[in-house]
Amino acid sequence: MTISQVVFDPFSDDFFNAPYETYRRMRDEAPVYYNNEYDFYALTRHADVAAGLKDFATFSSARGIDLEMVQSGQPVPPLVIMMDPPAHRRMRGLVNKVFTPRAIQRQQQMVTEQIERFLSAADPANFDVVQHFAALFPVEVITEMLGVPAELRQQVRLWLDKQLEREYGKIAMPEAGLQAGIETGLMYYNLVQDRRAQPRDDMISSLIAVEVEREDGTKTKLDDLEITGFASLLGGAGAETVTKLVGNAVVTFAEHPDQWQILLDDRGKIPAAIEELLRWEAPAQYVVRYSMKEIELHGTTIPAGKPVMLVVGSANRDERAFTDANTFDIERDRSEAQNLGMGYGVHSCLGAALARMESAIAIDKLLDFMPRYEIQHDGLKRVAMTNVIGWHNVPVRVVR
Ligand code: HEM
Repeated sequence: MTISQVVFDPFSDDFFNAPYETYRRMRDEAPVYYNNEYDFYALTRHADVAAGLKDFATFSSARGIDLEMVQSGQPVPPLVIMMDPPAHRRMRGLVNKVFTPRAIQRQQQMVTEQIERFLSAADPANFDVVQHFAALFPVEVITEMLGVPAELRQQVRLWLDKQLEREYGKIAMPEAGLQAGIETGLMYYNLVQDRRAQPRDDMISSLIAVEVEREDGTKTKLDDLEITGFASLLGGAGAETVTKLVGNAVVTFAEHPDQWQILLDDRGKIPAAIEELLRWEAPAQYVVRYSMKEIELHGTTIPAGKPVMLVVGSANRDERAFTDANTFDIERDRSEAQNLGMGYGVHSCLGAALARMESAIAIDKLLDFMPRYEIQHDGLKRVAMTNVIGWHNVPVRVVR
């Protein structure tokens, strides 16, 4: 047997710059990849990643979902995304009550207004799609839904960036990220106290009102920490990913102008384009799980008690699952295989409907704002973060 030499380092330029060639080699040469520098395993084939996401009894979320958390073995905060069933089922059932499709649909007007507000302030002669637009509106949307005062909403995003940023070769969150996490938690904690005293028509007030069934069968309300945690999670998950999707979209369409033209000719294809963008360059590239038992796969043994990365960004490019997997095609047959860009199984994205709505409106308005555009390549810059990939700067020249 030949041992593959492929190296996958999630804290290097290879990952930050979208490691599709590395993924391809991992799928072919090391479908159960082991990284001995950081001591984690990674699954990259579609069938394995999908099965891993479904099998929560073997691949646990209860130790966290990034490498640092899973390796540290420290207790994790009481967040829905870091729970296994049955606790997960109870908490998800509860948040589903607050995050209903109707509640999301009701936001359409607000989402459109936010998007239009930032685009109408944008200068076509000096337009950075991320810094002047895609980074700004998603955080406004989710924090407005939560009930964060307007003057603090962009601060939530700046704190979040700090928590996701990573230094080369380092798993751990830098000091500035830890500090930002504390400040975010404090802000939400104070807001919870505020809403307990004076409820309003926002999600924090709804979370204060609902009851959750506990392990012993009793029903209680959520405590301050649970609500604070949930608000921080939504504020984070709801902002970063949509920002990344819209930034990735503009770069991808510049590389595939024929696909942009299809949308210019038929806006009805925007939802299909969003699905293809989620497949092509998933903003959340991987999630991390903890192996609850020994796993035998493709002739390799993953021991119990190890971090296992489920690389959805690779699974979505797997030629075993998708015809012409490395072709960006918004009109592709989507019934071929499950798109894993929003996750799969019990943890599949709670905010999927909101994310799709926000992204669709944003793309629609961008088609109006810049039907023709060119990327200013020397200003393009990617983020260096854990779990997600995307752009920090996407400067464009709008062609009139
Ligand atoms: C393009 C945008 C988005 C992408 C690509 C995305 C991706 C994902 C993925 C891959 C997961 C699964 C995580 C796991 O299995 O560990 C997930 C879960 C989750 N997402 Fe999203 N997401 C997006 C937008 C949003 C928005 C807008 C919100 C909220 C407002 C949100 C809230 C959540 C929450 C709360 C979970 C955890 C669900 C659970 O554990 O049951 N996401 N998302």
